[in-house]
Amino acid sequence: MQNTGSCRRVYVSGVVTAALMASSFGFAQGAAPSSAQASVSQMPKFVQKDGRWAFMVDGAPYLMLNDQVNNSSAWPAMLPKVWPAIDRLHANTVEISVYWEQLEPVQGKFDFSVVDALLAGARQHKVHLVLLWFGTWKNGAMHYTPEWVKRNPVKYPRITSANGTPGDTMSPFGAATLEADKTAFVALMKHLKATDPRHTVLMLQVENEINAYGSQRDYCPEATKLFAGQVPADFAAAMHVKPGTWTEAFGLEAENTFQTWSIARYIEQIAKAGKAAYGLPLYLNHSLENPLATSREGRPEWSAMTDHVLDIWKATAPSLDLVAPDIYMPQYAQYEKIVKTYARKDNALFIPESGNSAQYARYPFMALGYGAIGWSMFGIDLTGYVNAPLGAAQIDDTLIDAYALDYELLGSMDREIARLNFEGKLQAVCEDPAVRSQTLVFGPWTVTVGYGQPQFGGVRLGAAAATPNPDPTGRALVAQLGPDEFLVTGISARVDFRPTDATSGKRRAYIRVEEGTYVDGKWKMARIWNGDQTDYGLNFRSLPQILHVTLMTY
Ligand code: DGJ
Repeated sequence: MQNTGSCRRVYVSGVVTAALMASSFGFAQGAAPSSAQASVSQMPKFVQKDGRWAFMVDGAPYLMLNDQVNNSSAWPAMLPKVWPAIDRLHANTVEISVYWEQLEPVQGKFDFSVVDALLAGARQHKVHLVLLWFGTWKNGAMHYTPEWVKRNPVKYPRITSANGTPGDTMSPFGAATLEADKTAFVALMKHLKATDPRHTVLMLQVENEINAYGSQRDYCPEATKLFAGQVPADFAAAMHVKPGTWTEAFGLEAENTFQTWSIARYIEQIAKAGKAAYGLPLYLNHSLENPLATSREGRPEWSAMTDHVLDIWKATAPSLDLVAPDIYMPQYAQYEKIVKTYARKDNALFIPESGNSAQYARYPFMALGYGAIGWSMFGIDLTGYVNAPLGAAQIDDTLIDAYALDYELLGSMDREIARLNFEGKLQAVCEDPAVRSQTLVFGPWTVTVGYGQPQFGGVRLGAAAATPNPDPTGRALVAQLGPDEFLVTGISARVDFRPTDATSGKRRAYIRVEEGTYVDGKWKMARIWNGDQTDYGLNFRSLPQILHVTLMTY
């Protein structure tokens, strides 16, 4: 993989696409945007049409191809080990933490030097940022609260467990904690408003994987009193349950529902205040349990932040633009179940964290197949930390290359992909080791995606003898550009077309198969594939190749 230094996605099939790179950021290649160019751009926002979502950045659909760097990598001393990884990955957006303990070391005195270093670095490396607010909660714990919060548990109470002992997590009933967190978050938003008119920062995550591991709910007196009372009428209505006490309304789920509602109510107040200060999109991330387990017993950490509580969050925290899953499950069936769960008419699909072992590198394609507006693996930087066994055993060139291939390929046409997906013209899949091939139907044309085939010869797609790739690395994306015209790309996959109506007796012929690139949003042909390159379908290995295909039947 070409190390592209300080430029992202420069080489696509050997063709320099600097113009494209410049165009998506609105400034010339290599030139840091001057203050004259740093005019106020449009506020990023989510739009939904016919159940499909677009993340509008600078007025057009944008596809986030992200890397969430390690938890302790946002410090300026670490950034020289972050940016080279981002450049090599061809990521267009970086998810990176803002630590409350650093931002407000003394109550009311804010230190924005780290945030400013992130903004400067991102602009220099021509990437956007998604900032992760590590405040009251980070993986359920209170570890990122400032010292003045940690040392004052009377004012900033921790959760009370069932046996009365304090937990390692904050109580969602701590009014002073809520006020303090809200003040800090609002200060951050105001700082971004003042210093980032070009929207280097696209979105913020409010807290991180909130939870109260080890306790069903907060058993502090206020919580216990509220729990014994009536479910608020608006919440009962939104959840379609009969009014009554929490136990009457939610039965076995009462405590968990109450705890989720308590936290969501707290987050809503922070998000609402943050948005009022500066209207950037906000989201929240969920940790998950095995989505295929059908009973509570199969999900021991069943709690306030897993997929089954999504409706509670939607009902209670409307200032969040979306709720997003962190997926550390390499198995196809589990990954797909989660993706399907979070892709909703009322929730744009964004995956802010995924495991980072090589098998996850095919999942951006699955996510796109379900209309995702962005995807990220977790923890690819060069700070020397690996979160195995959740991810890869080491961050080496081979691993970076596996993701860089996705991002180089998709990033070279990220705007086009985001638009085509929003318009409902795009389908994408990745290899499911349990099936021989996958089909995508575009009206009269059916696309078959098969795996494990050579470029020359091999078996017809769909034939029983087809074998999968040795590792499930295959992925493919097809978008309809006209009645008989398609954009096609893939990795370790064979793609072919046939008439959907098998009874018609018609067969498919390629009129023209162009390989090329998008430059400034315009297709630029490099060559025509024919002969061996098309006689056995369209075969993709591990090069970022994009095709425009024109078909006919005979
Ligand atoms: C999910 C969390 O959101 C991340 O911050 C990190 O702790 C990973 N788990 C594990 O590396």
